[in-house]
Amino acid sequence: MDNFIVGLPKAELHLHIEGTLEPELMFTLAERNKIKLPFHSISEAKQAYNFNNLQSFLDIYYQGSNVLQQEQDFYDLTWAYLQKAATQNVKHTEIFFDPQSHTERGIAFETVYQGIYRALQAGQKELGISFQLIVCFLRHLSAAEALKTLEMALPYKETIIAVGLDSSEQGNPPAKFQAIFDRARKEGFLTVAHAGEEGAPAYIWEAINLLHVSRIDHGVRSIEDQDLIKYLAEQQIPLTVCPLSNIKLKVFETIEKHNLKQLLDLGLCVTVNSDDPAYFGGYIAENYQAVQDALNLNQTEIYQLAKNSFQASFLQLETKQSLI
Ligand code: ADE
Ligand code: ZN
Repeated sequence: MDNFIVGLPKAELHLHIEGTLEPELMFTLAERNKIKLPFHSISEAKQAYNFNNLQSFLDIYYQGSNVLQQEQDFYDLTWAYLQKAATQNVKHTEIFFDPQSHTERGIAFETVYQGIYRALQAGQKELGISFQLIVCFLRHLSAAEALKTLEMALPYKETIIAVGLDSSEQGNPPAKFQAIFDRARKEGFLTVAHAGEEGAPAYIWEAINLLHVSRIDHGVRSIEDQDLIKYLAEQQIPLTVCPLSNIKLKVFETIEKHNLKQLLDLGLCVTVNSDDPAYFGGYIAENYQAVQDALNLNQTEIYQLAKNSFQASFLQLETKQSLI
């Protein structure tokens, strides 16, 4: 891999911690917790990571999460990610977690939170990676379920910067969660949402106008709406783009057809992220490398992407300025 890309200080802003569960750790945890996996071997698991769309991925991703049971499992998961991120010079990471995929299985919110949070603190101390936590609501579940999750997060709100929205996009518009996001903002959370990954540009407008998001996660379908592109550029609302994810989930046919460069050229605050690296074949540096190679990005453009990642982060202004 290009030394310039690996060595460049980067912030990661779109990373589902459950999506960093490598098959090796999945098997270790399955054994530790006496859980039967639908795969017989690591190579069989990897072979199953062949997706047609977002839903076909989500089905396997939620199944994988079942091996996470104890606080230590969440710690080990997060620690493994941080060690990998450190080798790629990630200086700051803003991590999503999906409490509902665990609380639905009878795991306490606190177990999930404590394991992740303790590892993040260790990562800050031992690896020098600063962090923020974002609690996501699963949009295929009801608004009432999201509200219960928000209430579970309230005791930890001093250490959770934002709420987000993920899972099956089509048919689950941001409007469905307007009241929950209103409540979250009243409680002091910032907001983000996956929008325009598979869903239409109208969902991006809803995320902006109804959920008052600080960033759009993915947002690549914004290209279909000229007024939206103009607005995103003028307001510098960041997009957390995940190139390898978009290829694996068939949002674009090939990496050469990805619109990241187009969005960058149109003046949008585009960032590069890994989404679910254990499932999509690469961490953040592999994502930078893939777009550099396929879209012929020069060093100035790569540098701009890394600069955008700090600009778009929830770091304090003075910290951002010292890092950029
Ligand atoms: N959950 C994990 N990865 C996701 C993605 N790319 N889109 C929506 N929900 C997700
Ligand atoms: Zn995502």
